[in-house]
Amino acid sequence: MEHLSEVLKILDGALAHDSRKAVDYANLLAEKLDGDGQARQARAVRTALSKRPVRSFSAAGLRSLPIDDTSQAETIDIMDPVEADERDLVLAALAQEQLDDFLDSVAAFDRWDAEGIAVPNRLLIVGPPGTGKTSLARAIARRVRLPLATTRSDALVSSLLGQTSRNIREVFDFAQAHPCVLFLDEFDALAKMRADSREVGELQRVVIALLQNIDALPESTILIAATNHPELLDRAVWRRFGHQIRLELPRPADRRRLWVHFLGDKFTLESHEVDQLVGVSEGMSPAAIQAAASDMVRSAIRSGMGELTLPLALRRLARTLWDDYAVFDDPATEMRTLRTWQPKVFTVRVLAEMFDVSTRQVTNATREVTPDA
Ligand SMILES: Nc1ncnc2c1ncn2[C@@H]1O[C@H](COP(=O)(O)OP(=O)(O)OP(=O)(O)O)[C@@H](O)[C@H]1O
Ligand SMILES: [Mg+2]
Repeated sequence: MEHLSEVLKILDGALAHDSRKAVDYANLLAEKLDGDGQARQARAVRTALSKRPVRSFSAAGLRSLPIDDTSQAETIDIMDPVEADERDLVLAALAQEQLDDFLDSVAAFDRWDAEGIAVPNRLLIVGPPGTGKTSLARAIARRVRLPLATTRSDALVSSLLGQTSRNIREVFDFAQAHPCVLFLDEFDALAKMRADSREVGELQRVVIALLQNIDALPESTILIAATNHPELLDRAVWRRFGHQIRLELPRPADRRRLWVHFLGDKFTLESHEVDQLVGVSEGMSPAAIQAAASDMVRSAIRSGMGELTLPLALRRLARTLWDDYAVFDDPATEMRTLRTWQPKVFTVRVLAEMFDVSTRQVTNATREVTPDA
């Protein structure tokens, strides 16, 4: 039966006298039926619902989020990721394949579950900072048309002994009661407790709480966890995620797509110039490339030239790549450093124009550098 998981949750809600849960999942069922082109069935569900008006769960309308007792901070954050789109993400071929696999598996969950071969809808996203873990979770939530409930790791890890486990339970209870994608962002924050935990047993309790809650969560509920530090995760936790996506720092072909994507249509560079950016941006994350590209575009606008040139782009990029501020404090040092770095781009003439000085001044400043190639 299609959509069995929604039907079971409606039943759950009804039997537990939790009308809100029943209504939320009935709304979700109607939406899914609509999505499948089953308009008549969707209408029948909505007609049944309209007989008993209960305010439905929505990202904007929800008030009773779980909170940490000590800090009084909400432990999750709800958003409707309407803008997120996985097509805006540049993913390596393997990551794209893993994503497609996960989405297919979620879509086919009920069918496969009926045959006893479903993989629970649990995804672990692993990758260095700025590679798109959070963006991907949002894009997935948008694809499955559910709000994203993201845990706030700062609030989740309570200073009060025992409270962290309770916070975890409340977050999972919430995800059971409302249709949403539960997203444990910066998942390793829980594991990092190890370092500063005042009591050794506390971490064990937290891991056990996590395992129990994951196990108790219906397999059809989508659970996503993201971490920069997979090595900190307990193996037992890791094993519970049947799906994984590994995001890596982008390789040259993907860096090229990122530069082209983030520079946009207005401030383009020639193809061989983009190659130069690709060459020098090894080790940069997509987020860092995005920040550098917008910095280049802003700088091109400020320059009033109406276009982005390669020297300007590389000069801005140098500021991202080298965090030695002394270089940029003094024009002569900056000229010399740029010239040593990319002598073919930063010729004497280019530098003179860029720094608004005479070619003689450039020659003096860069004397010890080899002449133009
Ligand atoms: N693979 C990607 N393709 C395109 N843009 C990306 C990609 N990864 C990150 N970005 C851009 O960088 C920004 C930050 O990415 P995001 O917050 O998703 O990374 P993250 O992996 O969650 O980082 P962190 O580990 O710091 O939480 C995003 O808003 C997005 O615009
Ligand atoms: Mg993130």
